[in-house]
Amino acid sequence: MSAERLQKILSRAGVASRRAAEQMILAGRVQVDGVTVTELGGKYEQADVRITVDGKPIQAAEQRVYFLLNKPKGYISSAHDERGRRTVLDLLPEVRERIYPIGRLDANTEGLLLLTNDGELMNGLLHPRYEVEKTYVARLTRLPGKEELNRLRTGVQLEDGLTAPAQVRVLEAEKGRVRVEMTIHEGRNRQVRRMFQAVGYDLKALKRTHFAGLTLHGVARGAHRTLTNEEILSLYEKAGLTK
Ligand code: URA
Repeated sequence: MSAERLQKILSRAGVASRRAAEQMILAGRVQVDGVTVTELGGKYEQADVRITVDGKPIQAAEQRVYFLLNKPKGYISSAHDERGRRTVLDLLPEVRERIYPIGRLDANTEGLLLLTNDGELMNGLLHPRYEVEKTYVARLTRLPGKEELNRLRTGVQLEDGLTAPAQVRVLEAEKGRVRVEMTIHEGRNRQVRRMFQAVGYDLKALKRTHFAGLTLHGVARGAHRTLTNEEILSLYEKAGLTK
C-alpha cells in the first residue's frame, strides 16, 4: 500500500465521500497522530499513522480483493435479493470481504463478471467516459441478414436512445446453430438483448466472454479466480485511475 491523500483514506474507510472528507479536513475535524490537519495535500500510509475524526479512530482499510467469475444462468447479479433468489455471491462462499459485482448480467445471461470491494475501480470501469469494452456471444435461431448486422454495427434506436457503434461478427451460421459475437462499450440495461430485438431477433442464449480485456479462459462455468496484480493494474488504467 502506498501513501495516499488523507481525503482518499477517509473515503476508503467509509467515513464520507472524498468531497465531504475534504470539507471535514478543512473544518479541522481530522487528526493525524493527534495533530489536527487542515490542509488537503498531505499523503500518508494508513498503516503507519493513527487517524481520527472528531477524536474517534477510523476503521482499518479493508484489504482490496478482485475476482473474475464465470456466472452460470439462474443467478442474479445483486448482492442481496429480497425474494431470496440465488445471487452471484452464493458462488463465492469463502470470500469474507463485502464484495459487489462490477455491473450486471441478467439472471439468464452467463459469463464473465468481475467482483470487488474496490468502489473506485468499480465506478471507473462503469463510467461511460472510459468506454470499457465488453464482448458477448448471442445464440439465435436464425441468422440476421446483412442489413440487420449493419444496423447493429452502426447503431440501433432503443427506448433510451441510439446505441453507439458496435463490432459484430458471425461466428457460426449452421442451421439451428447460429452464434453472433458483439462488442460494445456501453452498459445499458439488457442492452444486447434489446439491440437484437430491435432488429427482429430474440436470443436463445447470451454469454459475456470478455470484459475490459479479460477473458473467461481457464475458468469453468460457476467457478472463479482472483485477478493477478498485472490485471488489476491494467483495469486501473482502463478506468482512468492510477494505483
Ligand atoms: N446485455 C443484455 O441484454 N444482458 C446482459 O446480461 C448483458 C448485456
